[in-house]
Amino acid sequence: MLGLGSWCLANAGVSLATPAQGRTATPAAMPRLTRAHGVINLSRVETDRPQVALTFDDGPHPQHTPRLLDILAEHRVRATFYVIGSLVHRYPAIVQRIVAEGHELGNHTWAHPTLSRHGDHRILSEIDRTQEIIWQTTGHLPVTFRPPYGAITPRQSRMLHASRNLPTVVWSVDPQDWRRPGPAVVAQRMLQGAGPGAIILAHDIHAATVAAVPEALNGLYRRGLDCVTLSELIGWGRWGPEAPYRHRIAGAGSRRTG
Ligand code: NI
Repeated sequence: MLGLGSWCLANAGVSLATPAQGRTATPAAMPRLTRAHGVINLSRVETDRPQVALTFDDGPHPQHTPRLLDILAEHRVRATFYVIGSLVHRYPAIVQRIVAEGHELGNHTWAHPTLSRHGDHRILSEIDRTQEIIWQTTGHLPVTFRPPYGAITPRQSRMLHASRNLPTVVWSVDPQDWRRPGPAVVAQRMLQGAGPGAIILAHDIHAATVAAVPEALNGLYRRGLDCVTLSELIGWGRWGPEAPYRHRIAGAGSRRTG
């Protein structure tokens, strides 16, 4: 996990430097995220609220992601998708559906490299290219970033926060679903360690992971845990078409920028 820890989120907030106009097929120039929040990196959120965030990495996948969206809709649950930029470019309609159904998008780089082996220039180009394709595809901008394999150094994380205002988000629960242990084991592992503020990692590119989701959701429900998106878990409010970028800014009260 490379030393990524939790941060105090009491003053967390984020907004855009310029108003977001882009909800059409031809969105305006991509805005920049402001530096109005203090979240540099986190693996879970300190909270007493009975909430967890389900996060799905490495998609969109042409078959498994739509199936997962069907399941989430049946259960009326919102999740966060850390998508790969090159796949957003390849499967724009699926990404648009993710947003239309109230889920959140996060940045998971363009080509899924191990960033800790690369210099700042490569990191920023991976991030910027992915922000741009998501903005052009959906008219919305991710407000968090997840490094492939969780591999990023603390210095790189601070650099990313300072230059792009993107918090690095990893996870507190890892079912190791990429090892393909089968749906029952994946569901059981997703529940292990799931308590208030947990960030649960999974991958919507594996059929077995998607098959595990109904059982995992039922288990969370039995424990009284609600599934919310990453922004909601942090306390930034809803991300997406209904309330894009309406996040509280520390020390500035509530301000609407989009
Ligand atoms: Ni990944």
